[in-house]
Amino acid sequence: VTITEPQKDLDVATGAEGAIEIERELADQTRDYVERPERDLRRRPWQTYIDAELGMRGYWYPVARSKDLVDGSPQPVKVLGEEILLVRKGDKLYGVEDRCLHRGARFSARPLSLSEDTITCWYHTWTYDLEDGRIRCILNDPDSNLAGKPGIRAYAIEERRGLIFAYIGDGEPPALEGDLPPGLLDEDVTYHIAELRMIGANWRLALENSFDPGHHFIHNWSPLVIESGFPITFGYVAKKGEEHMMVDYHVEGPGPLGFTRTTKEGEYLFEATIPGKDGKPDTLYKAPGAVGRTNEELDALFQGMPPIRIGIWMPCVNSIENFPGTLTGYEWLVPVDENTTMCVTIGGKRCATPEESEAWKGEQGHIEWKVPVVDKFIVDDDFARVGVQKFYEDEDGWYRERMYRPDIEITMLRKFFANNARGIQTREKAVGSSRRRVSSETASENK
Ligand code: FES
Ligand SMILES: [Fe+2]
Repeated sequence: VTITEPQKDLDVATGAEGAIEIERELADQTRDYVERPERDLRRRPWQTYIDAELGMRGYWYPVARSKDLVDGSPQPVKVLGEEILLVRKGDKLYGVEDRCLHRGARFSARPLSLSEDTITCWYHTWTYDLEDGRIRCILNDPDSNLAGKPGIRAYAIEERRGLIFAYIGDGEPPALEGDLPPGLLDEDVTYHIAELRMIGANWRLALENSFDPGHHFIHNWSPLVIESGFPITFGYVAKKGEEHMMVDYHVEGPGPLGFTRTTKEGEYLFEATIPGKDGKPDTLYKAPGAVGRTNEELDALFQGMPPIRIGIWMPCVNSIENFPGTLTGYEWLVPVDENTTMCVTIGGKRCATPEESEAWKGEQGHIEWKVPVVDKFIVDDDFARVGVQKFYEDEDGWYRERMYRPDIEITMLRKFFANNARGIQTREKAVGSSRRRVSSETASENK
């Protein structure tokens, strides 16, 4: 991965001009909303991203944990709107469309694998090759000339680091490694893999939350923060005019495209004044963990920590270095459908011995990482992700949102994705249909 200086020609709004440009765009949007409430929904500069409701097409996605897919027990998963049946057979892994070509029965309702490398539909016995999805035979019509014909979709499936990945795209898949975030394959790191979580939010709302410099406020209510008494800021906000300098872009392979930011360089806000009106006094509000600490103490606390670096990588994964302590984590926000995201969250620790490594995968990782980080911290990210879903789902949120300065970094994320996506997923591609309805009228017209 090449770390580049902010590049103006990247057109992801890096460079001072870019940042100013974004501020202008944000102001435009606000004006739009205020002055033209009846307006048409205007195209946004990151329109491709808005259109990618179901995710980016042409990438590898984690779809299951290795340990949840056992031999003899096929598992259905849904990603980017595509229903896939995962099958493990000895040392082979398969993924096929979970939908029979004949009349659409879901194989997963009663998975029947009657030979080494086939799946048979439980309804009328159509039998498919697990490797390429072709029709192998039909048990109750042995002479059918459908045998050998193309049948159902078959997916490229790979397994790495305790996760099963599927390629969602067309044609030959690129190498899986190119779609894995930097550091994931480091051999001295062992991952504790949390149970997969489904949340009722679109994948973009979940991903944006991870990078949002203004979102730290919510963690003042996180059990981990309350229990430890550690101060959490209202936000790590870039100094005005320096928004673009906080971010390092990774725009060359191998490895996915993405960007990182070290929170340490931002401004910390632990207190704010709420002005009183009608002659009433102002109110000073201090973050709970900051009460009783001077600004110097707070500053020293933060400067003394290893810098937390957050990364965002295409198609939908974040990385967090040095949180908590020296642990590293990744979280894929995998689109399931328009309103659901599957969170694949893993916590990495450098382990020196196989014993240490085993302990981390099990109880130790559970106690030291999963409970504090996922159950007692990310829980508030999920709360926030779900908390804005309704607005974006059915209240025109993508066009109606009113943004402020800390959102510049959100718009940079959006532009980066819009400009660099290999492709976007659509409902038509997901279900493999043109969605053209033929009514009796159009049918007779066609005669
Ligand atoms: S629906 Fe599968 S064989 Fe008929
Ligand atoms: Fe968070």
